[in-house]
Amino acid sequence: MSSQDIPEEKLPAGRDQEHGAAGAMAVADEENPFADPGLPPHEHRRQDVDEKAAKHSERTVALLFTLSMLATIGFIASYVAISPDKSIYVFPVGHTSALNFALGLTLGVALFAIGAGAVHWARTLMSDVEIADERHPIEAPPETRSKVLADFKQGAKESALGRRKLIRNTMFGALTLVPLSGVMLLRDLGPLPHTKLRHTAWAKGKLLVNMNTNEPIRPSDVAVGSLTFAKPEGLEEHDEEFQTEIAKAALMIVRLQPENIKDKKELDWSHEGIVAYSKICTHVGCPISLYEQQTHHVLCPCHQSTFDLSDGARVIFGPAGHALPQLRIGVSEDGYLEALGDFAEPVGPAFWERG
Ligand code: FES
Repeated sequence: MSSQDIPEEKLPAGRDQEHGAAGAMAVADEENPFADPGLPPHEHRRQDVDEKAAKHSERTVALLFTLSMLATIGFIASYVAISPDKSIYVFPVGHTSALNFALGLTLGVALFAIGAGAVHWARTLMSDVEIADERHPIEAPPETRSKVLADFKQGAKESALGRRKLIRNTMFGALTLVPLSGVMLLRDLGPLPHTKLRHTAWAKGKLLVNMNTNEPIRPSDVAVGSLTFAKPEGLEEHDEEFQTEIAKAALMIVRLQPENIKDKKELDWSHEGIVAYSKICTHVGCPISLYEQQTHHVLCPCHQSTFDLSDGARVIFGPAGHALPQLRIGVSEDGYLEALGDFAEPVGPAFWERG
């Protein structure tokens, strides 16, 4: 039954007055170009006009609260009476602890019944008055603004700032200089990196040393399809700076068939198809560790950036911003692989290229 179906004399007295502007519509005019749509006509609930319906709702709420009480008593009884070792079959869970099941069920019912009772009570029996709360202008009224201005002028007058120019000027000087103390504190962040991040431990004539065996690498040690990790000769694990240096200098070596190398510079910087690339991903610097020998792709495990080692290690997939830097290599007089210089560009994330 909607409120339209309810005879006028049965509607609660004075309800519409309580609603204030409910249903009232303001018309748009020049000052207020947007018409206020107002509130829709109020729909009376059955319980407001039918005492029998209200009594029924009251009983439902009381029933839900009583159910909650019974469930709580059931919870306590289960806790006392059911052995923790007893198990029961509950569809679809299967076999489970009878005690846990009973505790969960009774507590769940107790809480749900309280909530459902409260909601039903609020929806059907509590006051149903709709209230419109007007939004006030955000700016302060003109009197407040003039008072603030007057107070400010009064304060400035009392402080004699206009008259005591010496005080005013030194105060501004002090206020300007005091933030410099904060700038000085930035020195505590440590020494500037200068060009350290642009250079690695690689230099002309440094042998490529196998990270696993700690031995210099001969070209014949690098088989087609294998991935070898290398570090510069002279960089030892017990060195104080080892972690810092290896984070930039870590190298991976792969042997390709020279005819498979598509990039001319890559071919020139390789030795008999052996290419050496930075192992540090150019996305955010994870170490690259996966090599797919059929496609010559290396994959960074962090965010799946994939680089094509047969084509200048260009990025073919993933978030990395640029190709892996290549190290130019040759062979020393003793027949070991050696670097012919440092990397030609900063290794790792692209940020440093812009610095
Ligand atoms: S660090 Fe390599 S893909 Fe993100």
